[in-house]
Amino acid sequence: MALSRRGFLGLTGLALAGATGVGTLAGCGSSAAGSGQIAELLTSRLSLPERFKVGLPIPSVKEPTGIRDGADLFEIVQREAALEIIPGFQTPVFGYDGTFPGPTLVTRRGQPALVRHTNRLPVPTVVHLHGGHTPADSDGYPTDLLLPEGGAQLRGHAAHDMGGDVRTGSRDHRYPMEQPAATLWYHDHRMDFTAPQIWRGLAGFHIIGDDDEDALGLPSGERDVPLMIVDRAFEEDGQFRYPAIDPTMLDEPGVEDDFMEGVSGDVILVNGAPWPVLEVDAVRYRLRFLNASNARRYDLRLDPAPPSGPAFVQVGSDAGLLAAPIEQPSLTIAPAERFDVVVDFAAYPVGTDVAVRNSLGSGSTSDVMRFRVVRTASDDSVVPERLADFETLHPGDAVGHREWRFSRGAVGDHRGWTVNDRAFDPNRMDAEVKLGELEIWRFFTDLQHPIHLHLDPFQVISRNGRDPGQFDAGWKDTVNLAPAEYVDVAVRFSDYKGAFLIHCHNLEHEDMAMMAAFGTI
Ligand code: C2O
Ligand code: CU
Ligand code: CU
Repeated sequence: MALSRRGFLGLTGLALAGATGVGTLAGCGSSAAGSGQIAELLTSRLSLPERFKVGLPIPSVKEPTGIRDGADLFEIVQREAALEIIPGFQTPVFGYDGTFPGPTLVTRRGQPALVRHTNRLPVPTVVHLHGGHTPADSDGYPTDLLLPEGGAQLRGHAAHDMGGDVRTGSRDHRYPMEQPAATLWYHDHRMDFTAPQIWRGLAGFHIIGDDDEDALGLPSGERDVPLMIVDRAFEEDGQFRYPAIDPTMLDEPGVEDDFMEGVSGDVILVNGAPWPVLEVDAVRYRLRFLNASNARRYDLRLDPAPPSGPAFVQVGSDAGLLAAPIEQPSLTIAPAERFDVVVDFAAYPVGTDVAVRNSLGSGSTSDVMRFRVVRTASDDSVVPERLADFETLHPGDAVGHREWRFSRGAVGDHRGWTVNDRAFDPNRMDAEVKLGELEIWRFFTDLQHPIHLHLDPFQVISRNGRDPGQFDAGWKDTVNLAPAEYVDVAVRFSDYKGAFLIHCHNLEHEDMAMMAAFGTI
């Protein structure tokens, strides 16, 4: 397997041979997707739809179909569907239950969930619950493939046995849900093919609630809105456009050379709709922003900014509520990050259109969506000054220190992306970590990389030896690093022994081997 991967990367990475002087590649290439972007822009071949014409869809909430061994059973069928994303066009998607985003799972802390996935797609899949504190055998290790019912015709690279726990048809994922209220998401994690499969639609929300959160009185019900932001490009017939070497995803992984840095598109979708509009009452709303894009970062701002008060009051980060709210004039959100915020539309006169703009975009990608304040209404929600009992991790208590370097790599024939100068090998553990022990992990980057850990969240201790940044508060499971940065995080893994992942969540980097496995003992 390792041989064939090196063969593949050798082939697609030739143009990058010896590209160690990476400074010039830091997002300023002529076709890059805008300032501060590492990814290359892929443009659509249809004329872009008018912005702010489509209503914001809210993904449906999945109902459990029964109880199995004390867990709520949820059954999801992964299948193809044709959706009207761009008005007047049909876009074939890979969808959880044939939808994009997939249905939202809503579960409670302490109440286990059993999620049964059935694969009726033409490709193997792997489901990962991002942010889940999940046992290894349910976490979605990239080689634990779920082959389609009836089997897939894998060829070439994709047919190699990579040693995972391969099933056919259905797989049960057991999620203990022993973790606090948080906005998680589930998505594909198939070895070498995660980026094209998420691009085709395999992503959905999984929201955990708990009693502590309910007691706070934050906006709820229709005033608690999940917002999944992605960018996509379209072919002239409405299909998603993606620069895969093998569009069938059955043979050779990888993207065309020009897209090694990541793929970004010129259409912004929120919950699967292009630049949508949501009518809101002039009251507080809780907005759960998720950046589910392959490689694009956003800096979200409200336009106009509220005449008084902060634009966003951040109440939660990736893995749960903050200790106390933080006022944020803007939100810089990297792939896989979540920002849980409250916006008070009472600051605006009724009739105002409030745009969410992206100051890291240009042209079509500088717009995201719009809120239209349509009426006054009563509001009994509050944002309390204390949100959660928050355990601050103290670096002085750490018993272990490790370093992880994320860089463009040339190791032997491998010329993709590396962690500590190695390409991902699913059968090699790059660290052994004792459960229950606090460690400090230092991440180093060459270019822009959002770094994600499985199994447990972490706290950002410092950036380049100084204080954490504006967006680093709380329990994080993904932290964005700018070019040539280092960030220290404190992490303590717990409960589950097995193999877990650390990787870049730029999905093209991930697929091109910027991932490592660690074993917990
Ligand atoms: Cu959201 Cu290992 O991924
Ligand atoms: Cu994850
Ligand atoms: Cu990366």
